[in-house]
Amino acid sequence: MDKQRKAGAGLSRRHFLCGGAMFLGGGLLAAPALAKQLCRPAEGDILGPYYRFGAPFLAKLAGPEETGERLVVSGTVLSADCRTPVANALVEIWQANGAGLYDTQTPGNYTDKGRFHLRGMLYTDAQGRYRIETVMPGRYPVPPNLPGLEQYGGITRPAHIHFRVMEALHVPVTLQLYFAGDPFIAKDPWASQHPANVIALEMAEAGRRGVFDIVLARGF
Ligand SMILES: [Fe+2]
Repeated sequence: MDKQRKAGAGLSRRHFLCGGAMFLGGGLLAAPALAKQLCRPAEGDILGPYYRFGAPFLAKLAGPEETGERLVVSGTVLSADCRTPVANALVEIWQANGAGLYDTQTPGNYTDKGRFHLRGMLYTDAQGRYRIETVMPGRYPVPPNLPGLEQYGGITRPAHIHFRVMEALHVPVTLQLYFAGDPFIAKDPWASQHPANVIALEMAEAGRRGVFDIVLARGF
């Protein structure tokens, strides 16, 4: 898998999963069977304690004043066939700042009407595409004594960005995007279970950038 991911650096996960099927299909499985095996809806992950509803509609989460390494993540929201773009999907994004702090450090605060920072919503365009401009999120420890997560208190989370994606004819998905090479992924109880949500980043002139396509299951 690591070898395949390195080979696919700079390519989208969709390209890896579906395009790679033809290459990989050689002797073991017929191409359609392998494509069916590799083309899967995005894997859901926990919502986490720092979600807040009502973030503003914007794709530029971080302005030039934000401390941290610049990061651009783009991709396409796709239907369950891994090919059909899903236009007008609502994509919610939230993350910690470069120091690993959210705009509210009160876990489970869903109702704060204060300013939103490093949070945004957008709709995919007619080709199902989205693009966010932000900074690399910092790692942070799981707060102690979170109901249901007590056993994980103090664990350092790998850098991640939260996504929640929904569209009328598809099943909504909540997930976290992780970054290849983060040494905290292996021991993280969530990241370690979702290797498909780990992308490689490449260095660009203005910072890092990566591509993350999100496949939604059909709702019927
Ligand atoms: Fe988080």
